[in-house]
Amino acid sequence: MFKHGQKSKAFFTRAMEVTPFGVSSNYRYYGEDTPVIADAKGGYLYDFDGNRFIDYRLGWGPVLVGHADEFVNDRVKEAIDHGVSFAGTQRYEVSVCERIIDLCPGVEMVRLANTGTECTMHAIRLARGYTGRDVILKFEGSYHGAHDSVMWSTQGASLDDVGDRKRPLPVKNSLGIPKAMDDLIVLCPWNDEEVLGDILAERGEDIAAIIVEPILGNANALTPPVSYLQFLRDQCDQYGIVLIFDEVKTGFRIAPGGAREYFGVIPDLSTYAKAMGNGYPVAAFGGKKELMMNLTYGKVFQGGTYTGNVVSTAAADATLELIQSGDLFKQIEQIGTILQDGIREICQRHDIPAYINGAPGMFGVSFAEKRPQDWRELMANCDWEFAEKVYAHLLANGIMPEAGGVEPFFICGAHSTSDAEETLQRFEEGVIQAKA
Ligand SMILES: Cc1ncc(COP(=O)(O)O)c(C=O)c1O
Repeated sequence: MFKHGQKSKAFFTRAMEVTPFGVSSNYRYYGEDTPVIADAKGGYLYDFDGNRFIDYRLGWGPVLVGHADEFVNDRVKEAIDHGVSFAGTQRYEVSVCERIIDLCPGVEMVRLANTGTECTMHAIRLARGYTGRDVILKFEGSYHGAHDSVMWSTQGASLDDVGDRKRPLPVKNSLGIPKAMDDLIVLCPWNDEEVLGDILAERGEDIAAIIVEPILGNANALTPPVSYLQFLRDQCDQYGIVLIFDEVKTGFRIAPGGAREYFGVIPDLSTYAKAMGNGYPVAAFGGKKELMMNLTYGKVFQGGTYTGNVVSTAAADATLELIQSGDLFKQIEQIGTILQDGIREICQRHDIPAYINGAPGMFGVSFAEKRPQDWRELMANCDWEFAEKVYAHLLANGIMPEAGGVEPFFICGAHSTSDAEETLQRFEEGVIQAKA
């Protein structure tokens, strides 16, 4: 079990005095030994006692190149000497839009924002404004940010509350979401064509948008067959629904062009954030010009004081340039594949039923007899107690994936083969201990 050393403990005690539970996000609180970070470089984090961790959380996905990367930081340093916030169009902003259009198949126009939450909020409003409909369909287990339209039946909702699989009940993930929102959301189990088809046959004409994480980045990286995403595309076409791929996690991570490239299915809109800025707060959404050109006076509002600011867009400009170069992805795929193969082999050797989901840059490990097909199966059928023991052993020994194992491992370009070897050695020890 990982325990804070003296300095980290003192620091976290200080944090708890001034911010609720010592964190800036509910999701970050792990209890009294919540991670505290004093420094970061490449693929490593350091706490206040100088403990080093190989970082597989990577800020929940954004750090694609590596922490404190010089190429990215130099672009930011060069940029900030010329001002950072203009409320006017600036060079990095346009360059970032051009690079996204170059990388992501079918993206014709882009608008910038600061967070994934903002982007899914804007994309949903655009879909509502464009279709004149109010209802949104989302899938159980997917997370699309912290706003009221999407905080339903995400990770943390209880299986006791979600109702019949064929007609899931929407479960609010927060107090404070108005009751009036209940009528604006439809939930569906993921990766099930029959149930979705039935729900759309009843409600299809009311629905403005279907929003989907093409790989469930918030539920063990469960990955659908291409045919399922194609089914979503076809159903949206049939009912005049806007298809939104929420690529806040998959974008620029599972492939340079994200899920559009990886699966070869083109939605109407995509939302991007995390990996595009190597940790700087930047986000984007884009898609068909016909839709995007509704973002104007008298039609659909989108904006924000800091959207397209120089600091974030300079970081994104450098990160996307590295993605375009191709080498970054080779490194990520190599390390991710060593880890995936190694974990699979360790589990087989120790007779532990396990499935690896996702892509080399973002993958989850399900300790289960049968590969889970959706969030309900994931939560009900995996051995979470076993996972927790393995992950606790990793954390206590200098390896930091997300505790508990529901979130995937994220890989960055700074992880090395020796990091992967060390991780696998610790993973095997964890499996042996958990089995015992
Ligand atoms: C798929 C997805 N969409 C949206 C968000 C929200 O992004 P942010 O935390 O930047 O607001 C997240 C965050 O984890 C996410 O994983």
